[in-house]
Formats: sequence, structure tokens, C-alpha cells
Amino acid sequence: MKDNFDNYPKGEDLIEYMHEVFGRSIFASNGDWWYHQRKTASMIFTGNNMMNEMVKIMINNNEALVAGLKAQSNNGALPVDCQRFFLSFTMDSFCEIGFGIKIGSLAAEMPPKWAKFVEYWDELQVRCPHRAFHPEWKLQKALAKLTRKGLPLGFLCRSEVEVAEMEEYVNKTIDEVIQVRLKDGAATKYSVLAGETASPGSKPVASPRSPGRGSPSRRNSSKGDENKRLDAVELFMNVEPPMSLLELREVVKGLILGGRDTTGVSIMWTFYELGCNPEIEKKLRDEVRALPMDSPPEFHDALKKAKYLDAVIRETIRLHSPVPIDAKKAANDDVLPDGTFVGKGYIVTYAPYVMARDEEFWGPDADKWRPERWFEGDLAVKEPSPFVYSMFQAGPRICLGKDLALLEAKACVALMLRAGVSMSLWPGEKEPHYKMGMILAVEDSMQMKVTFDN
Ligand code: HEM
Repeated sequence: MKDNFDNYPKGEDLIEYMHEVFGRSIFASNGDWWYHQRKTASMIFTGNNMMNEMVKIMINNNEALVAGLKAQSNNGALPVDCQRFFLSFTMDSFCEIGFGIKIGSLAAEMPPKWAKFVEYWDELQVRCPHRAFHPEWKLQKALAKLTRKGLPLGFLCRSEVEVAEMEEYVNKTIDEVIQVRLKDGAATKYSVLAGETASPGSKPVASPRSPGRGSPSRRNSSKGDENKRLDAVELFMNVEPPMSLLELREVVKGLILGGRDTTGVSIMWTFYELGCNPEIEKKLRDEVRALPMDSPPEFHDALKKAKYLDAVIRETIRLHSPVPIDAKKAANDDVLPDGTFVGKGYIVTYAPYVMARDEEFWGPDADKWRPERWFEGDLAVKEPSPFVYSMFQAGPRICLGKDLALLEAKACVALMLRAGVSMSLWPGEKEPHYKMGMILAVEDSMQMKVTFDN
């Protein structure tokens, strides 16, 4: 991840089978194009942006979240699928933080356009990784193209036809988001593909493998002013030479992927654990109730001081590692420090989910959710090495959104507890079953009993 970083890029096969989700976004790029995206995207996570805008957005969306839970739960009388609610919360928050638009997926009735987008986005994240175990997918994808042109071959490639349809819808919807952003962000010096219009569903003008005009390596990063609010799309719109619509779309996909699902499931697992551990929930509730949180800057400061909340969130992300496994592909032969030979083309994985259960690092109770461990031994005095707490990865590709993810998860949990919300698994509901995919989500839903103490 660090010492021989260049030898472990994202493999072409992963980039290929994940294409409908990753595109050529930061998650699926290497070299200059990756570096350029990382440098530009990092500007959105500045302290001032977080302080001034993000916290306000989180507070507003949290009100919508609590209202939605109240309406649906009837104060504990009806089960609520909390996974859906938390993923909507992070979707709404991140679209606003990242792209400056409100999509309203927390509204009592999710707008049908977004309901479909979310359904397809989730499904693509299941279908694409599955391809890794079914090498015939490439042939089926080719057949699906012919089927969509009218040849009666659908019975041979049903899933790939559906993947293509879902991708088309997702892309069309993101194109619309970018267009709205371009229209509303009038202050922006917009120069994406000057002279070209991008009607929804219109064909991208550049191939994903030959991004836009000009070589990415020659682009300068956007000249961002960290005191001015900049969202991700605006930042990327202002790079020179300008990005194509297709490139912007891929950037957006990458940021939704990074921002929404990981943090949404972290909040869900936090409430799941709090529901199983009432004494910890009480301790946490006492801490957040005592903190002054009346204005956004005060709230931001309070979150930094809330030590127990910090421990609860870090412990959740440790044990319920939102990205449970991550893979790279060796570009050349290598020998790992322990002497293991890695041949050119080998897939090398590290698994934060497994590392979190390693007793050598986390002690004999490694597999227990115990926030108290963050006040003991080395953890009490310093952050663990990212090579041990690997949930955000480590080295030059370490997660760019780590601080934002921690802030968002803490803000959501604190605001919910202050609003008097309690959650526990719905009586009689089976223990959650993981869903096969890139993110540690649950199969179908997480049905919970949600009550309010005021
Ligand atoms: C608990 C929440 C999160 C976890 C556990 C997490 C974890 C990770 C991991 C494991 C990677 C490496 C992925 C890979 O190389 O394949 C990564 C990369 C990344 N994350 Fe996060 N992430 C979280 C939240 C966020 C948020 C809120 C954002 C904001 C947009 C974000 C943005 C990114 C970006 C842009 C990268 C790519 C970095 C690069 O390749 O240079 N993440 N994250």
C-alpha cells in the first residue's frame, strides 16, 4: 500500500468488471489521471468547508431523517428499515455537500426518479462484483449489446441486458444532476466542452479509455479558494483543460460511491450495536446531551470534544468495516517483507474485516464491539497506524473522505440521540445477514424498532 505503491495499481480486470459503477473515477484509475482527481477532490475536504457548510447540511438533513423515522415507526408500533433511511440520509447529505443539490430521498415518498436511481445504483453494486466469479460475463455483455439492438438473444444474457439498462438510467440521472449544478452554479466559470450540450441520455463524447480533450497529465488542478464554498462538481468543472461531460459524470459516480454507502452503513451498524448495548447507549446519550450544540460552529466544536462518541464511531467502523476487503493487482514480481513471493498479475487483497478480528492487534476480545478499548493502552494516547486500523486503507491512496465520514457519522448519531431516538432490532427479527457486495450492507433490510423519548 505504501513502500512499493506503484507495483500495486487497480487491476484492469477489476476496472473492467466494475465499469458500470466505477467508470474511470478515482476508484478505478491509476497514474496521472488518479493523481489529478485526488489532488482536485482533496480541496473539498478543507476545514472551512466542513465547518461552514457541511455541518449545516447535516443538521438540516438530520431533521428530515428524524421526521421520516417518526412518521414511519409510529413510535415503535411499526418496524422501520433503518438501512434504507441511513443510506438516504447520506445520499441526501453527500449530494448536497458534493454537488450542491437537494435530491430529497428522505422525503416520506421518495421522488420516483431517485427511488429508481437508488434501486439501480444498489443493484449495480451487487451485479458488477459478481462478475468476478463468472468469466462468461464478457460474452454475455457482448450478446446484450446485440439484444438491445433487436436480436432475439435476451434468453442468453438477461442479467447483462439489465445491467446495461440500469447503467443507462444511472448515467442519464447523473447527467441531469450535473446540468442542474451547471445551471444553478452561475458564478462558476463553466467551460466543460464549450459548445456541446449534454441532453439526458445523450451519448458521451469521449471514450472512458481516452478521457476528454487534452492529456489528464497536463491538467492543472482547479484554483480553489478554501474560504469560498466549492462543491466537487464545481471544482472539477474548473480544471484546465476542461473535463468532458463523461469525465465529470465519472467523478460524480466515484464521489457518490465513496460518500454515501460507506458512511450510511457505518451509522446503521452504530445504531444496531447501541440497540444491543443499552448501557453504552445511555453513556453516549449522557455525553451528547451535555454538549453545547446550538449553532453549527458550536456543534462542530462539540463533536470534536465528544470523546465517547468518537470511540463509539471508530469502534463501529473497526468491527463492521464498511469496505470489508480491497484488492490490487501486482504490476511486476515482488517479494513481501515476510518473504512471500508475489508474481506479476497476482491479485493481492487485504481484508479490514479480518484484520479487525486479529487478536494480535486488538486483543483477545478483538471480535467484540467495545468502545472502551479506545481509552486503553496505546489507543488512549494516539491514533492507531492506518496499517492496523486499515478500514480507510493506508498509504498514498488512503481514503480522502475519512474526516468527513467521521464527522458525518458523529453528527448523525449525536443529533438522533439528542432528538430522543432509540433503536433496537425488531423483536423476533433474525440477526442481520450480510449482503454480497463491496460494502458491508445487510441483505434486504435492517428492520428496527424506533422509539422517541419526547
Ligand atoms: C466510514 C466511511 C468510509 C470508509 C470506511 C472508507 C474507506 C475507504 C477505502 C477502504 C478506500 C480505498 C478504496 C480503494 O482503493 O479501492 C477509500 C478510498 C476513497 N474514499 Fe473513502 N471511506 C469512507 C468514507 C468516505 C467519504 C465520506 C468520502 C467522501 C467522498 C470518501 C472518499 C473516498 C475517495 C475519494 C477515495 C479514493 C482515494 C484514492 O483512490 O486516492 N470516503 N475509502
